[in-house]
Amino acid sequence: MPARFISFEGIDGSGKTTQAALLAAAMRDAGRDVVLTREPGGSPGAESIRRLLVEGKTDRWSPETEILLFTAARRDHLERTIAPALAAGRDVVCDRFADSTRVYQGAVRADLREMVDALHARTIGREPDLTILIDTDVDVARRREGARRSSEDRFERFGPAFQDALRKGFLELAASRPDRFHVIDGSRPEQEVAADVARAALA
Ligand code: TMP
Repeated sequence: MPARFISFEGIDGSGKTTQAALLAAAMRDAGRDVVLTREPGGSPGAESIRRLLVEGKTDRWSPETEILLFTAARRDHLERTIAPALAAGRDVVCDRFADSTRVYQGAVRADLREMVDALHARTIGREPDLTILIDTDVDVARRREGARRSSEDRFERFGPAFQDALRKGFLELAASRPDRFHVIDGSRPEQEVAADVARAALA
């Protein structure tokens, strides 16, 4: 099997980070060479940009500046981590990719979606082979997030109505790209979700 690029998407607290790690472990058990990475981040430069994005006040950046920062981080991550790994025959499992920008910055402010898509086409120009959307009830996700306090809460502070809009945005995006997306119910126990993820990714 050629090297595969698999992304995980979902709202804050959806469980996608845990599921990405479990899938990477299952793929390694199956003998694959896997790079587990994340966005924003995944390379030294992109991790520096991450700190600018996820810490501080919610109004720290305008939506337009935010799109530029997420895309700059993604370009660095692609150049330094993702593309070299795939070229070397390694699989890449990525916790969030461009669909997060489409939904967090684009679906919620529909007028910005064109900017998101144009920048993506010009500077990134590639999609994962498979995208697993961990679709989790907003209340379940909020309880999970509550148990995990960190300084990286700039986006979570936008509140439940925002998370609800994000969930809908992800589901709409998945429905528009059925060739690439696989939607999995993330409100269930971790191991049940992991079994479905493994079936989707290792089939
Ligand atoms: P994380 O909690 O999954 O590490 O992501 C950090 C936050 O950044 C999360 O609230 C989602 C947000 N985000 C965007 O708004 N746009 C993006 O393009 C990405 C990758 C993340």
